[in-house]
Amino acid sequence: MNDVTGHACPVTALSELFDLSNQQLEATLKQARAESPVTYLPDIGYWAVSKYDDVKRILGDTENFSAEITLQPLEPFTDEVVELLKERKFAPRPTLSNNTRDDHLRIRRHTQLAFAPRRMKALEPYIRQLVNEAVGKFIADKRADLVAQFVYELPALVLFKLLGVPPEDVAHIKRWADDRLLLTFGRLDGERQLEAAKNLADYWDYCLDLVQQKITDPGDDLPSDMLAARAADESVLSIEDINNVVFGLLLAGHETTTHASANAILTLLQEEGAWAELAENPGLIPDAIEEILRFRPSVVAWRRLARQPVEISGVSIAAGDRVLCFLASANRDEDKFEDSEIFDMHRKDARAHISFGFGNHFCLGAPLARFELQIILEELTRRLPTLRLVDDQSLDMIETVQFRGPKELWVEW
Ligand code: HEM
Repeated sequence: MNDVTGHACPVTALSELFDLSNQQLEATLKQARAESPVTYLPDIGYWAVSKYDDVKRILGDTENFSAEITLQPLEPFTDEVVELLKERKFAPRPTLSNNTRDDHLRIRRHTQLAFAPRRMKALEPYIRQLVNEAVGKFIADKRADLVAQFVYELPALVLFKLLGVPPEDVAHIKRWADDRLLLTFGRLDGERQLEAAKNLADYWDYCLDLVQQKITDPGDDLPSDMLAARAADESVLSIEDINNVVFGLLLAGHETTTHASANAILTLLQEEGAWAELAENPGLIPDAIEEILRFRPSVVAWRRLARQPVEISGVSIAAGDRVLCFLASANRDEDKFEDSEIFDMHRKDARAHISFGFGNHFCLGAPLARFELQIILEELTRRLPTLRLVDDQSLDMIETVQFRGPKELWVEW
């Protein structure tokens, strides 16, 4: 395959990213690192970057690369969708992940309140309770789909607690959020795009209402903390800032962790003896989590826009070109990690993975994601120490280029 710039892409499968199994993706990225570490994907119009040092450099280099495109739809919206969103006054503005204005750090600092150790500690009994309630519902069946019956809703419930969303709203917000993910990072046909856009607008309205409600009736949650921090001073935080943070976190904070949890369980069950080892020695779980994040991240790629002409690994990238940084590939770079394709829970440098990004936009929710994964694995290995995968399941992955996790995960014990 040749692109307009003349760079041959030996890794044609990269352009079919939506349909690859884990093994196919991992093999494809390995080939990309070896043969074409910066390669153009004409189907989606992005440069794919696969080496650790290049990915880290791009994510950290705000002078040459802008984060403004991180949440742009990969598949452009139809005219009907654009019209509908206008009518519905859907108007979020870049606030965290795609914010390149000077106010990013100010808003980020206040959002960080949500992840203070005090808040994590306060959430611990609730997370354990959620895990045990979910396990209690299926343990007698001796078999379960751990996506549908376990990790699909759990991170959302935790996040909603943090945001002060009542539990009865979880089911529909979760559905809206699924659609938002597909609308931004997936490939929907015109009709499905329109349906997803309606859900997106409902989701936005819901966030505006939630913040308004916290103004009159504050609780022990992030929007109330942010409202208190601003103390009616617009230069500290505006209501618009808070609306946008809530809207952004509702997406950033659960799909990522749902898929990370499913990937964690899948990987531990595919690696012989790993689950039993953790059941016997739960003290290993924090190290195992870092290795899981390195080996099989839920966010496999993240985007940047070149601000000016720049060279990456000898390839010239023009101003305005779009770049897809493959975190999943950087994490397996042979020049960075010894025996990089081997899963090793005792690896000393696993934490150098780049699954939460790097630089100014480094994932704000990383402490919460790690904490949730830890409690999930502690409780699951304790209650289901003989867990194993059901044979002959298809393990189809969700259909987006940037996020990864199985749609179903059948296990037995
Ligand atoms: C395992 C789970 C998660 C993964 C793999 C993940 C991954 C990422 C990545 C790759 C970025 C972009 C970093 C960059 O541009 O350099 C990011 C940003 C972000 N994440 Fe996460 N994330 C996870 C969980 C969470 C959770 C639980 C929350 C919140 C509750 C969260 C909130 C955010 C926010 C707010 C940003 C934008 C930060 C900024 O631009 O200042 N993430 N995450």
